[in-house]
Amino acid sequence: MNKTDFVYIHEIWTREQNFFGKTSPLSLVEKYGTPLYVYSERILRERCSELTGLVDYPDFSVNYSAKANTNPFILKIIREEGLSVDAMSPGEIYLEMKAGFRPEDILFICNNVSDEELRYAVGAGVLVSVDSLSQLDRYGRLNRGGRVAVRINPGIGAGHHEKVVTAGANTKFGVDPAFAAELRAVLDRHDLRLAGLNQHIGSLFMSGDEYMEAASFMLSFAEQFPEVEFVDFGGGFGIPYHKENGEQRLDLALFGKRLQETVERWVDKTGRRIRVKIEPGRYTVAECGVLLGRVHALKVNAGRTYAGTDIGFNVLIRRAMYDAHHDIEAYAGEARPAEPKAPVTVVGNICETGDILAKDRLLPPLREGDILGVLDAGAYGMVMASNYNCRLRPAEVLITADGDDVLIRSRDVLEDLARHFP
Ligand code: LLP
Repeated sequence: MNKTDFVYIHEIWTREQNFFGKTSPLSLVEKYGTPLYVYSERILRERCSELTGLVDYPDFSVNYSAKANTNPFILKIIREEGLSVDAMSPGEIYLEMKAGFRPEDILFICNNVSDEELRYAVGAGVLVSVDSLSQLDRYGRLNRGGRVAVRINPGIGAGHHEKVVTAGANTKFGVDPAFAAELRAVLDRHDLRLAGLNQHIGSLFMSGDEYMEAASFMLSFAEQFPEVEFVDFGGGFGIPYHKENGEQRLDLALFGKRLQETVERWVDKTGRRIRVKIEPGRYTVAECGVLLGRVHALKVNAGRTYAGTDIGFNVLIRRAMYDAHHDIEAYAGEARPAEPKAPVTVVGNICETGDILAKDRLLPPLREGDILGVLDAGAYGMVMASNYNCRLRPAEVLITADGDDVLIRSRDVLEDLARHFP
């Protein structure tokens, strides 16, 4: 089957992007099955270069927040584009090094970790950012005289849902800046050098006001610590999940200009050179991913139409966890007469009522066998997939810059489910 052997039942974005390259959603699912994560190398590289060109400041770098997508093939492309990475766990450090990142390209932003995890990072030569004075003390005991970074809580948060606001009064993250004197005391106690300060206010903002305010705060906090070599302002850069409704993109040019002015003002004022990092996860990878699934059943319950698919919340949890919205396209093998759109609730195959991908979504009538394409699924999609209900986690495919399809992760098999039982 080739590119022409499918039709769009509902079209939003992928055609104009030539997302599927030389192949098509139908040939992909025929070859690899469903559910299937599909990534566009071209779009990924475009997003990376938008980010690396964000500000014109010599000591600026982009630290990709790998928790959004840790497939080593994706990591490799990101590395080739000149980004460094953060890590949240020894597992992320391990995969990042497998993808070719050097220890000095990795910042381990840990949260409530054990001595063993800290030792893993120190042993690998990776800089650690600790998230509390208690962890700083623990780190100092096992790496006296070492370099360290500290995550601070700038008191300002932002995000698309309360569960992803990671600064301000209602979160476990960061050191309260009111403890600056205690921070100095713990550093001195263990002869530690404070190499950097980092923060992350939360995930998904579309304006940037809070980000700028927090960045200014962090820079003024850094004035108390003249040894600090870098500040990392965190991620959170939003993407337009409502493409169908014409949602505008984050104005990166304006954002970059504001950030640059904020940093340059501080450099002029203090006479200090400082390295500046940002840490976007979602912006880097969300839009390069589309999740394909298949409609297996249709029904009407109490007047509501349901399309039953194989995209359960074990495959994509964002709607169940954060009420998140993803646009959905639909494809079929042959043309059919145009029919008016009607609300349909798209659900998965998991044994829970909350297993809903989209509620009362306006789509042309679907039929069994139709393929759905869930847009913007490249971030926090596959990495949050699970084996709940003993379902098999999906495969992942890359559409290369030449438009070819390459398998970059195989689908789980039944034997994987039994592998850990002694
Ligand atoms: N830096 C740190 C320390 C973080 O914890 C995070 C995300 C980021 C950077 C990147 O944030 P981003 O640029 O991707 O917004 N699972 C949720 C998002 C959780 C984000 C957790 N931390 C979702 O699907 O919306």
